[in-house]
Amino acid sequence: MLVLGVESSCDETSVSIVRDGKEVLSNAINSQIDIHKKFGGVVPEVASRNHVYQVSMIFEEALEQAGVKPEEIDLVAVTMGPGLIGSLLVGVNAAKTFALLYKKPIIGVHHLAGHIYANAIEHDMKFPAVALLVSGGNTELIYMKDHFSFEIVGETLDDAVGEAYDKVARVIGLPYPGGPAVDKLAHEGEDTYHLPRVYLEDGSYNFSFSGLKSAVINLAHNASQRGESINPKNLCASFQASVSEVLVNKTFRLAKEKNVKQIIVAGGVSANKGLKERFTKENPGFEICIPSIKYCTDNAAMIAVAGYYQYQKFKKVDGLSLNAYASLDLEELYEI
Ligand code: KG4
Repeated sequence: MLVLGVESSCDETSVSIVRDGKEVLSNAINSQIDIHKKFGGVVPEVASRNHVYQVSMIFEEALEQAGVKPEEIDLVAVTMGPGLIGSLLVGVNAAKTFALLYKKPIIGVHHLAGHIYANAIEHDMKFPAVALLVSGGNTELIYMKDHFSFEIVGETLDDAVGEAYDKVARVIGLPYPGGPAVDKLAHEGEDTYHLPRVYLEDGSYNFSFSGLKSAVINLAHNASQRGESINPKNLCASFQASVSEVLVNKTFRLAKEKNVKQIIVAGGVSANKGLKERFTKENPGFEICIPSIKYCTDNAAMIAVAGYYQYQKFKKVDGLSLNAYASLDLEELYEI
C-alpha cells in the first residue's frame, strides 16, 4: 500500500511517500527555520504564506524522488491538527486537491500520532507501550494498550519541554530554535548549578517546567546585575540534567507500573542527545525506541506511516469535508 503523507502544522512543508507503513520512498521537506530565526520564533502568518509558496513544489519533489506516479498512490494522509491553523489549512487543502484530482481516499491524522508512529519506520512497535512525547508544544506521557489506543497519563501543567529549551536558549543568547544549541553546549559543560528537579508533590505523572525555566532566567539576570558572568556551558548542562532526569525517571516509573513491552520517545526534543544518553544509561531493561533525527522533527513520513496504521485499525477514511483544527484532542479523536 502506497501512502502519500502531507505535513504543514508549523514551519515545515513536507510530503512523503511510504510503502506499507515502513519503506520511506521519499520525504521531501522545506524548513522555514532560517526565515523565522530573525524573529526569534515562528510567525504564524509568515509560516502560512511560505507553505502556500512551497506546497506544490514539495508534492512534485516527493513524487519524483520516490519514482511514483500520482495514479499509483493508494491513500492520502494529512495532518489535520493540532497546529497553526493557517499552516494546517494549506496542507489539508493541498491534500484534498490531490485526492479529488486523482480520485484517492483521504485520511486526517493527529500530529502527535504522527510523532509516535515515526518510530514504526525503524522499529517494530510492540504493545503495551509507553510513549514520551516531547516537542515544542507538548510534553505528554501516553499509555498505549494497542495501535491507536492513546491514554494520556501525564502532561505538562505549564511550559512544554521544547518551549523551555527555546526560552533558556534566548536568555543565554543562543539562536532559535534553542533546543539543538542548548544540547550542544550542555555536552561541553558540567552540572554545576544544581537546578531543582520538579517531581510535583502529588506524585502524579504530570510535569512542570516553568519553575525551572524561571530559575535559569533569574540566575542569568542576577549574575548580570552583580556584574558577574554565568558559565553558559555549565548552565546548559545543569538545565539539561534537570529536565532529562525528571523525564526519564517518570517514564521508567510508568513503564514499570504498566509492565510494558516497549518505551517510545517521540517529538522534536527526542533528538536531544542528553535525553538519549540518560535513557540508555538508566535503562532497567526496557526496549527503548527513539527515531533517527530526521524523523524526530516535523516530517511527512511520520504522517504517512500513522495514516497507514490508522487505516489498518479503523478501516475508515475521511471525505473531502475533512477540515483542519488548531486544537485537537488525541484521546477523543481516536476513542474506540
Ligand atoms: O516536534 P517539533 O519539531 O515541533 C513541534 O513542536 O511540533 O519540536 C520542535 C522543538 C523545538 O522547541 C526545538 O527547540 C526542540 O524541539 N528540539 C530540541 C532538540 N532538537 C529540537 N530540544 C532539545 N534538544 C534537541 N537536540
